[in-house]
Amino acid sequence: MPLTQTPLPFDHRALEPYMSASTIDFHYGKHHKAYVDYTVAAIKGTTLEDASLQEIVRASRISHDVRLFNNSAQAWNHDFFWKSITPSAAPGPTGTLAEWLTRDFGGIEEFKNAFTQEAVAHFASGWAWLVLENERLRVTSYHDADTPLVHEGVAPIFTADLWEHAYYLDYQNARGSFLDAFLGYLVDWRGASGRLELAIHRGRHVELEELTL
Ligand code: FE2
Repeated sequence: MPLTQTPLPFDHRALEPYMSASTIDFHYGKHHKAYVDYTVAAIKGTTLEDASLQEIVRASRISHDVRLFNNSAQAWNHDFFWKSITPSAAPGPTGTLAEWLTRDFGGIEEFKNAFTQEAVAHFASGWAWLVLENERLRVTSYHDADTPLVHEGVAPIFTADLWEHAYYLDYQNARGSFLDAFLGYLVDWRGASGRLELAIHRGRHVELEELTL
């Protein structure tokens, strides 16, 4: 099936006031779209023309096609970001996710503090991630377009986009305020729980479609 931009899983106004329609329109409609458009144009007529987005990301990393890697990885990271947030967010994690966050961070608030610290301290553009690695939950951040897809043994649970285009219209330079809204009102804890259960039972070799329940 030809590669196209994955539909936004909610209305562009659905995350207000925590993420404005204007931010969504620029972020999804301009930034994310541009990454997909470049990728589609770059693979046309090549052996990757019918490949999945994940296959394109991994193949371009192996072949050192930096521009294709950056654009395809950004396309995948954005797909994952839109599935990491929801207009009907539960107030917090439950079940195994809550238990393991408490086990590995000392508590839910301690986890939120660790995630926020990682994200705020991350210099320049990139992504903050909650990941499962070696049976433990941990927070990390990757620069630019880097993605868990090319990190062995890392299964992503959810991500926060740290590029300024993700928050500047709503929060200007206050990345910490964006993270407070992200963790307090936007994270799809039910989806995160589903991805954790899949990662526990299937290992990291789960497909994006499975990780984005
Ligand atoms: Fe972005």
